[in-house]
Amino acid sequence: MREQDLDVVDREIVEARGLFPGTERWTYMNVAFRGLLSTGVRAAVDAYVDGHMYGGWDKQQELAMIERTRESLARLINAENDEIAITKNVSEGLNAIAAALPWEPGDNVVFCPELEHPNNVYPWLNLERRIGVEVRTVEPEDGRLPSDKMAAAMDEHTRLVTVPTVSFSPGFITDLAPIGQACRELGTFFLVDAAQSVGVEHTDVEALDVDGLAVASQKGLLAFYGTGFLYCRRSWAERLQPAYLTRFGVALGADAHETAMDREKLEYASAARRFDLGNYNYLGAAASEASLRLIHQLGTKRIERYVRSLAHRLATGMLELGLPVAGGPPGPHIGHIVAVGISGGGRHYTADDPRMNDLYRCLTDNGVKLSIRRGVLRFSLHFYNNSDDVDRVLELTRRWLEPQ
Ligand SMILES: Cc1ncc(COP(=O)(O)O)c(C=O)c1O
Repeated sequence: MREQDLDVVDREIVEARGLFPGTERWTYMNVAFRGLLSTGVRAAVDAYVDGHMYGGWDKQQELAMIERTRESLARLINAENDEIAITKNVSEGLNAIAAALPWEPGDNVVFCPELEHPNNVYPWLNLERRIGVEVRTVEPEDGRLPSDKMAAAMDEHTRLVTVPTVSFSPGFITDLAPIGQACRELGTFFLVDAAQSVGVEHTDVEALDVDGLAVASQKGLLAFYGTGFLYCRRSWAERLQPAYLTRFGVALGADAHETAMDREKLEYASAARRFDLGNYNYLGAAASEASLRLIHQLGTKRIERYVRSLAHRLATGMLELGLPVAGGPPGPHIGHIVAVGISGGGRHYTADDPRMNDLYRCLTDNGVKLSIRRGVLRFSLHFYNNSDDVDRVLELTRRWLEPQ
């Protein structure tokens, strides 16, 4: 398969691969674990480190960088700046919402634990234990999240419903619309774990109709662990009382110093800013700012189209080779993740099917980076991948299938 055969040919995106030296070393299909860093991110991090090593950076510069990053994140998902809280990871964002909602006796939370990362399961089990919130679980169907069943499990006591925008395994895209509609009708908070989508899949919180969205930066955002963000819709955020509160979560006026305090009047910062806690991971933000610049330059709609096109080719190629692709022929359920094998079997580092373990070994021995999650071989792509990567993985698989 050649580049010109791709459904979507995008020269600028194809050329951006050159900014990722890791693509020369590996056939890197592992963004669902962790993305590659670009040379631009390395330069931004170096500049930040120099600023501290030589003592040149002042605090105002660092805080200004946080605000630029917040603006960039807001623009990425079509939110307003102060609907974004800067967090350290997905878990912090999810727990901020769990702790701030006004839970009442008899309230319930609806989710599908089988398709969630544990970090979006334990916050709700903890609420069950601490304050008796009823946990209502829904079973997946062939690796898919049954949105209609989820909506049907909700009632007027459902305070919150949560889903992954894309599951970490087998990596299908969740159909959010039926759940969003039920949330609107019932006044339920709709919280999504977008760890596996933001940066690769185009995300518009208005179009998706979600109230909260939590992300970390080391996957699709192509930056570091230890920095992430929480989107919270203004109409909800303004009604929420954060469980943790520090200076940056308080409104004192834009010009007030970071050590300013007014003990007579406690006013939360506007919207989601009230969830900001203490000083930021400035080094991580320096990386995110540079990475976001490139993502904006290419545009998430273009990135999504290009990456889906590659992923669909990979899925089709695997099916043509007779391998079991989770979810069957590619359709709207497949974005940038292709899972091969029988979903649900095995543990994290091995599959139940010894053939899949063998294929995994063969691919990794040949420089392909991928993961096994919940028993499937998980190939996950970003815009630094190209059709040669897809060809190479299919060719290695074809050779592996040949009788010895
Ligand atoms: C869907 C999903 N949620 C959450 C996480 C991680 O959560 P955190 O950023 O809190 O460590 C991951 C992967 O690391 C994930 O795939």
